[in-house]
Amino acid sequence: MGTMRLDRFFSSQEILSRSEVRASLAGIQVNGLPARSPEQKVDPRSDRITLRGEPVGYQPFVYLMLNKPAGYVSSTEDGRSPTVLELVPPELFRRDLFPAGRLDKDTVGFVLLTNDGAFAHRILSPKSHVPKTYHVRLDAPLTEEGIRRLAEGITLADGTLCQGAEARMLEDGRTPLVEIILREGKYHQIKRMFGVLGAGVLWLKRVRIGGLFLDETLSEGRCRAILHKELEEILLNYPATAFDPKAPD
Ligand code: URA
Repeated sequence: MGTMRLDRFFSSQEILSRSEVRASLAGIQVNGLPARSPEQKVDPRSDRITLRGEPVGYQPFVYLMLNKPAGYVSSTEDGRSPTVLELVPPELFRRDLFPAGRLDKDTVGFVLLTNDGAFAHRILSPKSHVPKTYHVRLDAPLTEEGIRRLAEGITLADGTLCQGAEARMLEDGRTPLVEIILREGKYHQIKRMFGVLGAGVLWLKRVRIGGLFLDETLSEGRCRAILHKELEEILLNYPATAFDPKAPD
């Protein structure tokens, strides 16, 4: 992290938007001198930036919620396809951002982007049991037998054993809609699990990470900062113990 524009510094810290900084520099000082312009370069680690006399601390970590559209890959670089990072607007973009967990190119929904490796590890490690909730359209109904097998832990075609997953039918329309909750993230896991049950996945969306729902006002392709209290929801608002399929409701 080197220098950045003053307006971008304020917006990245969610203190003032870039347009607010552009509209007025009143009350902003850099190293004791009134700010000169929104484009002024500042080094958040060494410059003393104040707003109305109050020091503005620099938060090194950022956490973004992206509503991923189909067609984007969940990596920082890809020679052929656009990446989820290309959807981050300049005022939120940081070069050290990466997606905490992958969704397939054709999967849509909640991708958490961050530059905090320890936090990403916490939400991704199967040991943390942070649930990820998906909505899935299938080409065949999910039977009671299928729900039971998912809860017990499906063995994939290559012999990989999956942890128990909670699944329920949401609606049985022209294409059945199912909710499924995973606490691990194996490659193409949901598609492979339903494949074992003889159902094809027509559409897949991640709607929740831990206790935090994808903000449905965020249209596909849009991204916003995750608020501090929402970060806590991701980690705290889920059962402390692992899912036990035999536990009573
Ligand atoms: N399972 C899948 O098969 N694909 C995803 O993108 C996520 C979970």
